[in-house]
Amino acid sequence: MSPRENILCVGLCCLDIVSQVSHFPKEDTDQRCLEQRWQRGGNAANNSTVLGLLGAKAAFLGTIADSHEKRFLLEDFAKYGVNTEQAVVCKGCECPSSCVILSRATASRTIIHSNKNLPELSVEDFAQVDLTPYQWIHFEGRNVANVAQMIKLVREHNKGLPRGEFITTSVEIEKAKPELEALIPLADVVFVSKDFAAFKGYSNKAETLERVKALAHPGAVVVCPWGEEGASACQGSGVMVHSPAFPPASVVDTLGAGDTFNAATIFALAHGSALEDSIRFGCRVAGAKVGVIGWEPMRGLLGSGTLLLKNEASLAT
Ligand code: ADP
Ligand code: FRU
Repeated sequence: MSPRENILCVGLCCLDIVSQVSHFPKEDTDQRCLEQRWQRGGNAANNSTVLGLLGAKAAFLGTIADSHEKRFLLEDFAKYGVNTEQAVVCKGCECPSSCVILSRATASRTIIHSNKNLPELSVEDFAQVDLTPYQWIHFEGRNVANVAQMIKLVREHNKGLPRGEFITTSVEIEKAKPELEALIPLADVVFVSKDFAAFKGYSNKAETLERVKALAHPGAVVVCPWGEEGASACQGSGVMVHSPAFPPASVVDTLGAGDTFNAATIFALAHGSALEDSIRFGCRVAGAKVGVIGWEPMRGLLGSGTLLLKNEASLAT
């Protein structure tokens, strides 16, 4: 394995308060849920969890509030082997949090997010990070003006290096926000969600890939996960490749399915797998995730990520 196997995930870390309910509640009622838990959340935080579970050397870079939740969040990163040495602790801020309702009846996950005053990561914060250990840097699509500058800094860093030592950049275009489009031309690998596609009026994966490819830089990889329909991807003028979804016996927790798919696909690409194999690996790992509650049971399912890549069909879903 490459000595530069580190993958850095840049973006949000928040607290998720997750309630499992049998049916989505009626407005203005009072009921008990099946189960309620605290879970570390945020797309980049979730990406790093999955990479840690797969056995990658994963690191998280983002801001963390210096509030009472900090200990829970940092201990939880450590549980999954995620390095948080670069995270920027912000004094006097409240921890962003989400109330998440998981419905057993429909397998939906409804998220109500709040971020009162935690600042976004600044370009200056990013510029202080030594980039040399990283093989891959993944950016969550938020904080657009700063992230655009950060990706440019990575490109500058690459200029002085032999091609084989370039840091690959990826970006996730997930939320229905027009400003995210500005990040599409910048990264080597672009993940586009079906929510963003719906917001743009694209009706399927093929149309989404065509439209996004036209904005991406020549030769970039574009990947589009699409829930139960699996995922498709293309690179430059190459053919489109597809993977079906791999549904588990019963879908119980879809929170972070997209984050899981993206992380597992990055893991496979970073290990040199072909694009079609990589998105199939992403779909298999995400399929396993939606069949279990939270992240902990994934340990037993995944084992060693590199072994799994060689024999992904062994993934016990
Ligand atoms: P998000 O969580 O961002 O809405 P998606 O719904 O597109 O993301 O799901 C991402 C990936 O997770 C899909 O490509 C698929 O592989 C997997 N996935 C999501 N929902 C299911 C499901 N019900 N059954 C099997 N796989 C699923
Ligand atoms: C899931 C997630 C949650 C978080 C929310 C933020 O993808 O990262 O963990 O609460 O999205 O938008």
